[in-house]
Amino acid sequence: MNAQTLAVDGGSPVRTAPWPQRRLFGEEEKQAAIELFDRSIASGEAFGYNGPEEEAYGAEFAAYLGGGHADAVNSGTTAVYVALRALELEPFSEIIVPPITDPGGVMPVPLMGCIPVPADTAPGSYNTDAARIAARLTPRTRAILVAHIAGIPCDMDPILDLARARNLPVVEDCAQAHGAVYRGRKVGTLGDIAAFSTMFGKHHATGGQGGVVFTRDAARYQKVRWMSDRGKPFGLPPGSGNAVAALNLNSDELACAIGRVQLRKLPGILARRRRFAADLARACQALQTVRVVEAPPDCENACWFLFFRLDAARLRVDKATFVAAVKAEGIPCEATYLHTPALADWCRQHRVFGDSGFPWTDPQYGGDPQAVYELPNALAADATHFRMGIHENCGAAEVADIAAAFAKVERAYRA
Ligand SMILES: Cc1ncc(COP(=O)(O)O)c(C=O)c1O
Repeated sequence: MNAQTLAVDGGSPVRTAPWPQRRLFGEEEKQAAIELFDRSIASGEAFGYNGPEEEAYGAEFAAYLGGGHADAVNSGTTAVYVALRALELEPFSEIIVPPITDPGGVMPVPLMGCIPVPADTAPGSYNTDAARIAARLTPRTRAILVAHIAGIPCDMDPILDLARARNLPVVEDCAQAHGAVYRGRKVGTLGDIAAFSTMFGKHHATGGQGGVVFTRDAARYQKVRWMSDRGKPFGLPPGSGNAVAALNLNSDELACAIGRVQLRKLPGILARRRRFAADLARACQALQTVRVVEAPPDCENACWFLFFRLDAARLRVDKATFVAAVKAEGIPCEATYLHTPALADWCRQHRVFGDSGFPWTDPQYGGDPQAVYELPNALAADATHFRMGIHENCGAAEVADIAAAFAKVERAYRA
């Protein structure tokens, strides 16, 4: 046995040191929480929601996106829900949804009585594009929801052109893409309304769970406020009753106090993630079979996770075997990111409201309740890529170890 022997075959792994801790929350967040409690204790008033911290967080979040209006809510899933509800769509509307995304990025659609229609990904990509969306439009389509997966922006200009030509609102799911830039514009500012997740695994967080709805349109923001807080008559004359029926999906003062600190850290977090990704791409250049997937040259990746294209045709093994060998070398990575909510059983079997199959099965829908939406590009993209969760504390040592592990496994398995 020598240094070339793969760890899966009993050799020594490239890396034995533990992966660095992310350390997302520190003394500053703790201090912000303590100050909130101190103020509450001194005044005798419990802190609540819609108070000064939430107002400030919303204003600072909007300022980060270049101006507009932001409403903090309690998760990324509810941010998508509120963003869609603010469009005031009628039940049975078809909404184009992302092919690959978290279930929380699609489940709000049937919960609103609407029909999720997934557009396939662009070839070789985890993101959809205008051509794939156009192929799924019907006279029943009422909105387009896109997600910038892994932090790489969708090619938005053609999507926005298509949406404008059909008079369809565009919702951006930016859960994975805080601070990503498309042709000089931050994602979230491109479409009509945007949803962010601020749960603890995202670029910046408001605590364990959280989300933000952002729009530049003041009238739409009023609807956002209604939809996240039981239809309370924000923006209506004093004495107005609740404007609509809606859930209580509010964030709160504690979450927003943490979020304000986190927002100040976001530029540094992004810069470190981008540097890591760029260094890793450079370190992988000499490899024959693995390439870091980077954003197009006119975009800036937010690098929520990294994914790699694997040219398995030049290997003696399949992707799963390659990735298992890399993992055994002490490098955390996963063979797949095949989260396709619209192909999942809950969606295909219409498991939303009891056994009714609503909204798909309702005669008012008018579309085919049994429609099967094939996603060949999404499946093909996933078959040729693997992924790695990264964070801003990954640095030069991790770059070196990842590149060394890829090189070792490639050497052992090259055809
Ligand atoms: C693209 C996307 N949309 C929505 C969500 C749901 O966000 P949350 O987990 O905060 O509800 C996620 C979560 O990872 C996501 O990645």
